[in-house]
Amino acid sequence: MTAPWWKTAVLYQIYPRSFADSDGDGIGDLPGLTAKLPYLGRGGLGVDAVWLSPIYRSTNFDFGYDVSDFCDVDPTLGTLADTDALLAEAHSHGMRVVLDFVPNHTSTEHAWFRESRSRPDSPKRDWYFWRDPRPDGSPPNNWGSSFGGPAWRSDPENTQMYLASFTPEQADVNWRDPGLREAMLDSMSFWLDRGVWGFRLDVADRLAKDPELDDNPLAPGREALTDVMPWLAQEHVGDQNHPDLPRVLRAIRVMAESHCSEPLLLGEMFPDSDADVALYYGTRDEPALHLSFNFNRSLCDIPWDARAFRNIVVRIEDVLPDFAWPCWVMSNHDRSRHATRFDKEGTAPARPKAAATILLTLRGTPVLYYGEEIGMRDVDIPADRQLDPVGKAFPGFGRDPERTPMRWSPEPGVGFTTGTPWLPDGGLVPGLDVQTQADDPESTLNHYRRLIRIRKERPSLQTGTFEAVDGDDGVFAYVRSLGSESTAIAVNMGPEPAPPPARFGRADVLLASPGAACDVPLAPDAYVIADL
Ligand code: NOJ
Ligand code: MG
Repeated sequence: MTAPWWKTAVLYQIYPRSFADSDGDGIGDLPGLTAKLPYLGRGGLGVDAVWLSPIYRSTNFDFGYDVSDFCDVDPTLGTLADTDALLAEAHSHGMRVVLDFVPNHTSTEHAWFRESRSRPDSPKRDWYFWRDPRPDGSPPNNWGSSFGGPAWRSDPENTQMYLASFTPEQADVNWRDPGLREAMLDSMSFWLDRGVWGFRLDVADRLAKDPELDDNPLAPGREALTDVMPWLAQEHVGDQNHPDLPRVLRAIRVMAESHCSEPLLLGEMFPDSDADVALYYGTRDEPALHLSFNFNRSLCDIPWDARAFRNIVVRIEDVLPDFAWPCWVMSNHDRSRHATRFDKEGTAPARPKAAATILLTLRGTPVLYYGEEIGMRDVDIPADRQLDPVGKAFPGFGRDPERTPMRWSPEPGVGFTTGTPWLPDGGLVPGLDVQTQADDPESTLNHYRRLIRIRKERPSLQTGTFEAVDGDDGVFAYVRSLGSESTAIAVNMGPEPAPPPARFGRADVLLASPGAACDVPLAPDAYVIADL
């Protein structure tokens, strides 16, 4: 039996507003994105699928994550016809397209919410969470918004309050309501029928809420955060990772499998415990998610440290059910880019290559974030250009720095737009653009291309086993094996030169930093991949 496509695929996340602008309005769009697909596909970077942050019609308070119509495209990005053209072009370059779907909430401008809000006996009332405030006027329970403050909102048209776990414009939906459930599943099948291969599911860990909507218990030691950030002060017993969650995920899986021959459901999950990780995948007989970003236990949550990396990887390998498949990611539109996060001072230029070496050789599906393949770093955003609602509420914590325009060429506008970019592009930085790196054999971009190629050529790197190998504390080393093929990987994550494990002997180098080999010490941030 051959593995499903998503097991051996390399995925690439695109934030469409920031990838390529075709019409000079400073906002990336679908025609711009489509024109860049040759860069990503077969013959280019070589990724197998792209996942697009939301393209649906949106009120854009949270840039696409506040959907006002799931079955249409936001006019700033394009049209349904543009989407069809994008899908066709992607397929012609050997790539599948996966969309971000937002199942936990809709915009308060969505027709469903407007109808729900209109009267207490609306047939869509229970598609959302409406509750009376407590007698003293305070919210019905203590749940918090991830963006600060309480999650319950007053509505001028109602005495009841509604639940919105992010901005007030993003109302949580109630998956226990059969009508809502069907409408959501229909919205997803609309896209599968159009040729999309699956979804990244936004905050899919929140789709089952406690039916009683009871208060969450306070988290010991974090009570003091209650006033500003109740979300961080609580144990998420009722609003996240609820035991009923696999049933909802399973329903999405069953729908997806009836509209697509081999769909991918990739959940954005935040496990509170190792047991939660297993929960997401369902059971062997009734599987739920295909893949899960297990944040809290991910490469986004740890420093550049060999032991930290090894611990996370081994832990995920241990807790995943045997039928489940890992998924690895270092950067996305919500986190500081890893080129910055792993090297705050900007003094380790080889580190993005070392990080990529790990990401693309672990066991599991790797997910890249646009621009990491050229080593893009966070861009400082002046206060008056800040757009992310999180950054506006909590200066310094905004997500604009990691969402800035893709850097295509060394010219004003970085090849992203001829107009004024919606977020600052960071200006010209020598060597930090696709055009320059394409011509430099030693560039980060060409390293990514080679890594992706080696991964495709070596079955052990695709579906082989993973075994961590002991050795110097600063070196993260492991072996991937399948049948008679074994691939050895060592990356020196420490500040001093350090040797690969003795067990690697004098294995033949497949890809290494300049001068690196299995039997000589690796310089800091140097790597070696060898045929064992
Ligand atoms: C997670 C998304 O990744 C983030 O960007 C968004 O703000 C929230 N979910 C709300 O949809
Ligand atoms: Mg545009």
